[in-house]
Amino acid sequence: MNTSEPPVHRPPELWQPGTWRALPIVQQPEWPDPAAVTRVTGEIGRLPPLVRSGEIRRLQSDLAEVAAGRAFLLQAGDCAEQFSSCTEYGVRNKLQVILQLAILLTYGSGLPVVKVGRIAGQFGKPRSQATEIVAGVELPVYRGDIVNSPEATPEARRPDAERMLQAYHRASATLNTLRALTKEGFADLARVHAWNQEFVRASPAGRTYEDVAESITWALRFMAACGFDLAGSQALHGVDLFTSHEALLLPFEEALTRFDAGTGAWFDTSAHMVWVGDRTRQLDGAHLEYLSGIANPIGIKVGPSVSPEEIRKVCERLDPAGVPGRLVLISRLGANRVTELLPRIVQAVKSTGRTVVWACDPMHGNTFLSENGYKTRRLSDIAAEVAGFFQVHREEGTHPGGLHLELTGEDVTECLGGAHELSDDHLGTRYETACDPRLNAGQSIELAFTVSDLLRAHHK
Ligand code: PEP
Ligand code: CO
Repeated sequence: MNTSEPPVHRPPELWQPGTWRALPIVQQPEWPDPAAVTRVTGEIGRLPPLVRSGEIRRLQSDLAEVAAGRAFLLQAGDCAEQFSSCTEYGVRNKLQVILQLAILLTYGSGLPVVKVGRIAGQFGKPRSQATEIVAGVELPVYRGDIVNSPEATPEARRPDAERMLQAYHRASATLNTLRALTKEGFADLARVHAWNQEFVRASPAGRTYEDVAESITWALRFMAACGFDLAGSQALHGVDLFTSHEALLLPFEEALTRFDAGTGAWFDTSAHMVWVGDRTRQLDGAHLEYLSGIANPIGIKVGPSVSPEEIRKVCERLDPAGVPGRLVLISRLGANRVTELLPRIVQAVKSTGRTVVWACDPMHGNTFLSENGYKTRRLSDIAAEVAGFFQVHREEGTHPGGLHLELTGEDVTECLGGAHELSDDHLGTRYETACDPRLNAGQSIELAFTVSDLLRAHHK
């Protein structure tokens, strides 16, 4: 880390994918073999882009619709994707729950839902400490599968640059599967029942989902009976699922940054959307420098420690031209602080004249350690933060535009509460996350019902 160097602000025309290297950087691993980093990123730099600039621009225009209050953003997936979950089953499972949530939100609100996964590249994690003591031994922390491995041994925790190449290939395989599933039969609206998994179907949320699915199926039959050409309607037979991850490991992002001659802009082709975490958005730091030069939509995490003034400056730095859909402000303030802290942040951004997407991440401000020692979250706190977020936006006259969730399609036991009333004693049954606790499929669907009620009331 070169924290002693003075900050350098380059005029935009002097920006290059690597200008971040001259600035202080946080949350990077200490690579034991820097030559391997150069070799691997060189190789990634020669590989094809993971996503196309045209797709990125389409997401940007979809997000402009969200910013204008005419659509809603659902951004969801793992806290940390694991290489081992890059299987056909793993990808399909996550897609399934995202499609279920999206359909519930669309049905409940009458708004189009822009779907963005925390998927196909969410492999790097910021951590609160660089090392941890396990059984009396100090080890580097796990920084996500793109850097090291979670097992508590010195070998597993040693940062390995080759993992970046593995991350590229896993992201590519995940994307390939997503593209196939979203463009052929699987995402067809006629399959709305089939997305409900067996274990969810029996739960109260699963049964209510069945009712909604039934209404949708009837609506489709009604439309067909009225003579609408449903078979020929593209919108019913496929969906767009965009990808996103935290742009944390800058050598990796830089290697996938490509110039698009058609638009004369640089794009980070590792994902459609990337975000800057709550710990890496220093105004004079490397992460903002990197993000300032790419044309992708950018998410900005907004935690309780940031001042409204700082957020205003971050917005100006990342979006000097005020392009609608460029910025997604993702507040994660905690259930008990959201109504206190969010208004001034909203006012500060409004004062710049920008139309941003306001999204709520009700996960990261509500994490705590349970009595049994599990890092967990309560579904009730998560729902309460979303309700607070809607309340503030109603009062400020802004559009509560999106929801950012950590979830899985599996029947895990990582968050407390929900219809099955998961308690601390249940958490050990299937606690499988590589980092933060995720909502399971049933809890996610319950939350989607709550949020669609809020959305419907907001748009009455
Ligand atoms: C995350 O989204 O997984 C994360 C680490 O969030 P934040 O930067 O908001 O803490
Ligand atoms: Co997380």
